[in-house]
Formats: sequence, structure tokens, C-alpha cells
Amino acid sequence: MGKFVIEGGQPLKGKVKASGAKNAVLKLMAASLLSDTPCFISNVPKIRDVFTMVEVLRWMGAEVDFDGDHRMFINPKVSKAEAPYDLVSQMRASIIVLGPLLAKYGKAKVAMPGGCNIGSRKIDLHLKGLESMGAEIEVKGGFFEAKTKGLRGTLVPLDFPSVGATENILMAAVLADGETVIENAAREPEIVDLANFLNKMGAQIKGAGGTSIKIKGVRRLKGVNYQVIPDRIEAGTFLIAAAITNGEVTVEGARSEHLELVISKLREAGAKISEKDNEVTVSLSKRPQAIDVAVLPFPGFPTDLQPQITVFLSLAEGISIVTENVFENRFLYVDELNRMGTDVRIEGHHAIIRGVSKLYGAPVKATDLRGGAALVLAGLAAEGETIVSDIYHIERGYENFKEKLEKLGARISIIE
Ligand code: EPZ
Repeated sequence: MGKFVIEGGQPLKGKVKASGAKNAVLKLMAASLLSDTPCFISNVPKIRDVFTMVEVLRWMGAEVDFDGDHRMFINPKVSKAEAPYDLVSQMRASIIVLGPLLAKYGKAKVAMPGGCNIGSRKIDLHLKGLESMGAEIEVKGGFFEAKTKGLRGTLVPLDFPSVGATENILMAAVLADGETVIENAAREPEIVDLANFLNKMGAQIKGAGGTSIKIKGVRRLKGVNYQVIPDRIEAGTFLIAAAITNGEVTVEGARSEHLELVISKLREAGAKISEKDNEVTVSLSKRPQAIDVAVLPFPGFPTDLQPQITVFLSLAEGISIVTENVFENRFLYVDELNRMGTDVRIEGHHAIIRGVSKLYGAPVKATDLRGGAALVLAGLAAEGETIVSDIYHIERGYENFKEKLEKLGARISIIE
């Protein structure tokens, strides 16, 4: 089990490049199952979740090559339309193969995703949407066993703009018979990336990125070459790292239109931000001002940056309130954080953050992917040494996190 050892107090300075988006590429890999011929995906981040998804595809019989320089080749020769428990339990996002397998093979056996550290992560909206398109889904021995005589296009209104449900239904609809309309669809940039990938394969999708997506089913899709969009959450993590260490960092690949609320909130707290078409620079040379942040589905402030902005505001002048409106339990990291001298109190969905002037290094434990990244940011800003253990959580979604931070001047090393 690796640990990060961080000597805090060093302002981060310089340029860092965002890797490909984790929450886009996992879906493109699943979408490749819909194709009759191989796909090439470039700008694929070398992170734990991608390797897990490679295992899921290989388990099904697909041929996957993922070489050193971020390029992936997938030949979707599926012989087993299944996703096993030991892989799904490592990565809940594996459930995203349900829609493509049903659409392409008329059946799917996918382990029920287990619990998770940030909430119950229900998938009722996925199942309801697929059933409304003609899928029959049973629960047997911890597995979803799904089958269909052929999916039919229909109107699918989502109770909540769920990212995963929008993606599963979108991928089921592209080969369904007739037209599907997803109402109250998720609008995240990763949905747009998936729709662009599918349209390049020959799908007919209109309106991705808006609340209503129209899909005309087609008979078959072909393999394509495609480059994944940059990871806006990794980019936002580095922008906040720059602000919390009173440094100045340019993130290459950061796209303003993917980070509007993050940029406006950092500005409101006092940071200076300059935006170019493919990079964003943040600098802050004084103590941040307290602000309030409401986490909401895109284009609202992203839940995946809630821990990071909370840590940043723990050093602000005054009292901030951060409200988590997407997950029901995404403050697990706060108990660890308070061991570093912060004063954060959780009241239901709100974090009440009484700003302190200094953080102190301490041994802490990563609780989940983004909470763990937030604790690293706290260590970078703290006085003294911080040891973050259970960093496998962080390695799920951040490629070369230590190396990228070192390049910006952080004093960070890994011990086993
Ligand atoms: C995706 O998860 C991301 N993961 C998450 O990123 C991200 O936090 C989330 O979208 C929201 O942006 C991937 O893309 C792999 P949801 P997903 O379905 O699809 C409830 C990270 O750190 N819900 O939009 O699971 C659910 O319980 C990860 O990279 C239902 O009730 O998110 C949750 O409270 C963490 N029923 C809320 O909606 C459903 O059928 C948001 O879930 C589906 C979801």
C-alpha cells in the first residue's frame, strides 16, 4: 500500500498538462463494444480505472492493446456478454457496459455494483430507462441478468440528470429500432464526448450537452480513431492546488467552458485567473476570501471538485458553506482533514467551514478518489510533513500525480 510523503509550504509554480478524461474514456471503451470493427482511442490516461476497464473488455473476449504512449486499440470480439463481480466491485463504472451489450448482443450479465465511499450510487434510473426500451432485467445471485428481443426507441424522462443513466440509455438507443428522446439528460462534457464518438461511428445523436437528447437508431456502427477530451476534474484539481499554495500554475488542456463555475468561484475567493483557448492560469498571493459553493450537475459546480474546494476554503478569511447536492455522503474525508487543524463541521448536506490561518502536517488516510486528492492539496499547503496513506484511491483517477506535482515544485515522494 503506497503512501505520499509531502513536505508542505512550497508555492506551486509552472505548467502542467492535463491527461485524458477518466470519466469520458471509460465510456468510450464501453461504446467500442457497439462497433463491428476495431477502434483506436488516443490520449488515454494511464490510471487504475482504465486498466480495470481493459480487464472487463478482455474478460468478454475483446482484444485490447494499451501501449506506453496513451493509445488504445480495441477489437470488440465479444464471446461472453458478462462483467464479473471482482472487476465491477473494483470499479462501479463497469455498469456502463450494460447498455452497449444489450444493444449489440441482446443480453448482458453484469455484477451488481457494491457500495461505495461516497454514497449508495443507485442505478434505478439506468434500469428503468433500459426496461422502457424493451429490456427485461432480473436480479440473480448478485448479478443483473438482462435480455431483450430488440430494443425500441421511446421517450425516456430521467428523474435526475444522472451521468451514468444518460450514457447507458444513449448507448442502448444508438442501435435501437426507432427514435429515443432522453429528457432531463445529464449535460456533462463527457456526455458530449461520448456522443461525438458514437456519431463518428455512424450513430445519429442530436442535442448532447443539452437537457434533451434525440437518438435515431441505426443498424450498425463502425470502428473509428478518436482522441479523448482533457480531464476537467484533474485540471480543476491543479488550479485549486495553485491557489491553496499561493502559487501560479498554468494547466495545459484546461478548457474554460468545462470549468466555468470553478473559475468564477476561485475568482470570487480572490484568485487571479487568465484563460486561453486551451489553457488556464491561476495565481493567488494572499489568503482567500470565504465564499459559498453549491455543488450541482453540470454546468453547476462539479461534485468531483467539492473536496478540493472545501480544503481550499478551510484556509479562507471567514466562514464558507459548501453544499453537496449530488451525492448523499461525500464528506468522509473531512474527519481526516480536521486532523490537520481545519475547522469544518458537517450539517446534513452542508460543510460549514470556519477558515483558519494555517494547516499542520499530519498522517492522514485517503477515503476515496477525490477526498484523497483533497488531502494531498491540504498537505501541500500545510506546515510540516503530511503522510497520505491508501493512495490507491488517488491512483484510480490521477495519472503521474506525484510527478506532475514535483514538476510544479512540490516536495512529495512515495513510500511503500
Ligand atoms: C459519474 O458517476 C462520475 N463517474 C462521477 O465521478 C461523478 O461524480 C458523477 O458522474 C456526477 O458527475 C464516472 O463518470 C465514471 P450519477 P455516476 O449517475 O454516473 C444518483 C469521480 O470522482 N443516481 O450522475 O455514478 C446517485 O446515487 C467519480 O470521478 C440515482 O439515484 O453519477 C448520485 O447521488 C465519482 N439513480 C447521483 O444520482 C441512478 O440510477 C449522481 O449520480 C443513478 C444515479
